[in-house]
Amino acid sequence: TDDFFKNVVSHAKEYGFVFPSSEIYDGLSAVYDYGQLGAELKNNLKTYWWKAMVQLHENIVGIDAAIFMHPTTWKASGHIDGFNDPMIDNKDSKKRYRADQLIEDQIARYEADGKTEVAQQLQTDLDAALNSDDLPRLKAIIEQHNIVCPISGTKNWTEVRQFNLMFSTKMGASAEDAEMVYLRPETAQGIFVNFLNVQKSGRMKIPFGIAQIGKAFRNEVIARQFIMRMREFEQMEMQFFVRPGTELEWYGKWKENRLKWHLAIGGDPARYRYHDHVKLAHYANAAVDIEYDFPFGFKEVEGIHSRTDFDLSQHQKYSGKKLQYFDPEVNQNYVPYVIETSIGLDRLFLTVLCNSFEEQDLSTDDKKDSRSVLRFHPALAPVKAAVLPLTKKDGLPDKARQILNRLKIDYNVQYDEKDSIGKRYRRQDAIGTPFCITVDYQSLEDDTVTLRHRDSMEQERVAASELEEIISNLVGW
Ligand code: GAP
Repeated sequence: TDDFFKNVVSHAKEYGFVFPSSEIYDGLSAVYDYGQLGAELKNNLKTYWWKAMVQLHENIVGIDAAIFMHPTTWKASGHIDGFNDPMIDNKDSKKRYRADQLIEDQIARYEADGKTEVAQQLQTDLDAALNSDDLPRLKAIIEQHNIVCPISGTKNWTEVRQFNLMFSTKMGASAEDAEMVYLRPETAQGIFVNFLNVQKSGRMKIPFGIAQIGKAFRNEVIARQFIMRMREFEQMEMQFFVRPGTELEWYGKWKENRLKWHLAIGGDPARYRYHDHVKLAHYANAAVDIEYDFPFGFKEVEGIHSRTDFDLSQHQKYSGKKLQYFDPEVNQNYVPYVIETSIGLDRLFLTVLCNSFEEQDLSTDDKKDSRSVLRFHPALAPVKAAVLPLTKKDGLPDKARQILNRLKIDYNVQYDEKDSIGKRYRRQDAIGTPFCITVDYQSLEDDTVTLRHRDSMEQERVAASELEEIISNLVGW
């Protein structure tokens, strides 16, 4: 599985999906750029989410709030005081770690060695220390279990300190009145502060939702596993405002609805599971993660949280503005309760890559052969079809370009005339193009082409005039 993941990462780079950020300067830790195909795939994932969450729901609307927000937002939300990770430095290697992660790694080692009871006891100790923010206790655990720095191999640790994950910068031209502002660590707060604006201007009636796609920033202490944990990433969040007392019913509906969404774009059901939170944040009354079985184990992709009236009440308190709703059905004013669905776009992207990537051995008795293929759902594929003239002469390129020019109005399509047709098919397989359209001599006579399917590699003869319809039936949402 280690090799599989390495291959996914190098394939993503080789074919223009994901590059390390500013790579010519040796990259920037936990920051990545999406290349020409990655940007297309990401856009398709956003479209899929937006259509499912906004377009298909009469009572959900989408907004696009700014990344910078008034600094009091983060006081009210609890991020200034509480959005911390416990961190520890090794004095020899000068490397910084998350204290809880070092202990988690030790638990995994105990489990691998069959020391299940020790592992369980350590997990209990860790949870207790984290729940009570007991930093000296975390340090004591690290010492008791002889945890060493993976780089220096020594136990020369500093104290454990809280490390706030928000990035900050200064806003304003002159040094004296420049104000500290933060890069938002979640998109959700842009929705909460706009609750009344949207409710009033959109004449929204409870229950209703506000959705948003946008960048978020976290100064993660450790960055691991490619685009799994990044310092700049993108979230797709939806806050659903409901009448108090009905929140758990809505929570159940969204929990079910969101898993179905993952499966509808070709997710393998065996690779998904729910992970119910046993320990809840103080403001939540239910929370669950949707986890995906990555090559490095089951990890969170999306969270569904019942956040009560915590956020709106906090903003009401700090802003002094009433954030209430008059519900004509019960003839009452109240602060609505909120169910949140929150998914990381980059993590979703990684599930789709891992779920689609295959290296297939196609060898026969007399010939060795193989191919790398990305078996994307056709609706997600960055390139929908490639138009390939069999040869570069005799008018075949012209005929192919005529077809291309028609298709490109509706779809992202590619033209390729270089190398043998077999090599060109392999290149399209490697970027997940569901269809190849080959133009040959017969095409000039009867206006038919060969349509080759990526997954089955089967070929069929179809009329060129039918291509739009065939493709639209297969790549539609
Ligand atoms: N508003 C709730 C919220 O932000 P979260 O569990 O902190 O909840 C939600 O984040 C989702 O955002 C996660 O399930 C994950 O997919 C994604 N995410 C969080 N931190 C991330 C990071 N450093 N890199 C990439 N994705 C991240």
